[in-house]
Amino acid sequence: MDRFYITTPIFYVNDVPHLGHAYCTVNADAIARWHRLIGDSTLFLTGTDEHGAKVAEAAEANGVTPREWTDRTSARFAEAWRGLAISNDDFIRTTDERHYATVQQFLQKIYDNGFIAKDTYRGLYCVSCEDYYTADQLDGDKCPVHGRPVTEMEEDNYFFRLSAFEDRLIEWFEKNPDAIRPASKRNEALSFIKGGLKDVSITRTSLSWGVPVPWDEGHVFYVWYDALINYLTAIGYGEDAEKVAAWWPNVHHLIGKEIIRFHCVWWPAMCMAAGIEPPANIFVHGWLLVGGQKLSKSMAADGDAPVKLTDITPASLTEEYGVDAVRYHLLRDTPLGTDGEFSIEGLIARYNSDLANNLGNLVARVATVVGSKCDGVGPAPSPTSPLADSASTALAAAADAWERFAPHEALEATWRLIGAANAELEATEPWKAEPGTVDDVLGSALEVLRIVSLLISPAMPATADEIWSRIGLAGSPSDHPLPAAAAWGGYPGGLSVTKGDPLFPRRKATA
Ligand code: ME8
Ligand code: MG
Repeated sequence: MDRFYITTPIFYVNDVPHLGHAYCTVNADAIARWHRLIGDSTLFLTGTDEHGAKVAEAAEANGVTPREWTDRTSARFAEAWRGLAISNDDFIRTTDERHYATVQQFLQKIYDNGFIAKDTYRGLYCVSCEDYYTADQLDGDKCPVHGRPVTEMEEDNYFFRLSAFEDRLIEWFEKNPDAIRPASKRNEALSFIKGGLKDVSITRTSLSWGVPVPWDEGHVFYVWYDALINYLTAIGYGEDAEKVAAWWPNVHHLIGKEIIRFHCVWWPAMCMAAGIEPPANIFVHGWLLVGGQKLSKSMAADGDAPVKLTDITPASLTEEYGVDAVRYHLLRDTPLGTDGEFSIEGLIARYNSDLANNLGNLVARVATVVGSKCDGVGPAPSPTSPLADSASTALAAAADAWERFAPHEALEATWRLIGAANAELEATEPWKAEPGTVDDVLGSALEVLRIVSLLISPAMPATADEIWSRIGLAGSPSDHPLPAAAAWGGYPGGLSVTKGDPLFPRRKATA
């Protein structure tokens, strides 16, 4: 059995989950569900990043201890993911005891291997980035990302000898040309490395909210160095070598484009320094924008734009449009790897065209005509239906697209099949025909609905289950592994077909 391990970034708990976090997490979820559907042994990890100055500041501003603050906000991420039908197998918190143990072992190993040394660090620090800048990187005297003033810091720190890994990293990039996708992002990371790497400070003494350095009390690890290691904590690094050996070669990190340097430069180097392979696959996605702006949480706090993506909570959308419609929009509208503009108008337009008119309409008209022409009992499909070809084309295209982390293409391919079935019904007009003459066409339309349920199940699990049950099948499409389950002819016929309410009632465009 193939293994598939997919991760999201672990999100900062200085604020609540927003649509940008949901975009990444829904995509990871759908890809994980696809891999379960094709029978892969799948591990899907998400979680929260709870240490560092940013979180400590948020706790203080709210008058609670960091621990109370992180318990509260981490729970809001878990709750948001339940509300979006996220099927993560594990939820890691960097304040978990298991994580402290792994961080300490992993970094101790790097220390023992001679790649960590003490030095004094002076620099300009942006708390929102949790990162140092040099004077020439600043925008005037402010952080170029957040526009916040930076702080001058001087600390006795431990440094990771990143500079020692320049050649090895370049070699790794060249030997593994597909490890980082899309290629444009890989090239960005590679040219950063080729520009020369400096050693990086990996501990803090100015802060106590972090994982203690095992060989020198009074220091804690810098939040990024602790956070990246979460991907190993979850597979038992330092505890269960077999588990690590099974999952680590199959890891896929899905990350946003602003954290390329951490994941594509530091993290592979840290892995090398600790004596393990760098992460096998990293996929970089773009940003959802509103009015062309990203507006991260930190910028939203400064608040100078009228509409902020980060003000949109996933729940506000799912309450209004339904979980699966929101998932569908996130997956279908903005291809992974590029930026995309989010708008309610866009969501409604896509909802009406793809969900109400195409999928919803197909489900409703098939059930109606089976009701009127076949007494509500679904006939078996025709082995020679032209839709058989459309179905196998859709399956092949979808499989290829999911494999390439292109959910939008997988859905496009599935909607071509839905379109073909609607066109076939319009051409044959079974609603006008005599009962008894339309079994082939209706059976084939039901077979398309069965296959569509399978193909949409990673994206829209509840809708897939609902269609499956309306056409009379027991259980859930997700229990039927592909590709075998999607072979033409699987709908047995003789099942009772239920009409039900419209799956996606049409929405009015907003004013
Ligand atoms: O960076 N559009 O956490 P974070 C799309 N804790 N995706 C977005 C987005 C947007 N507008 N805004 C955020 C951190 N994201 C660290 C990660 S990992 C070891 C540590 C998504 O809370 C995107 O995936 O700032 C981005 O990389 C992630 O949220 C950053 O979340
Ligand atoms: Mg961020």
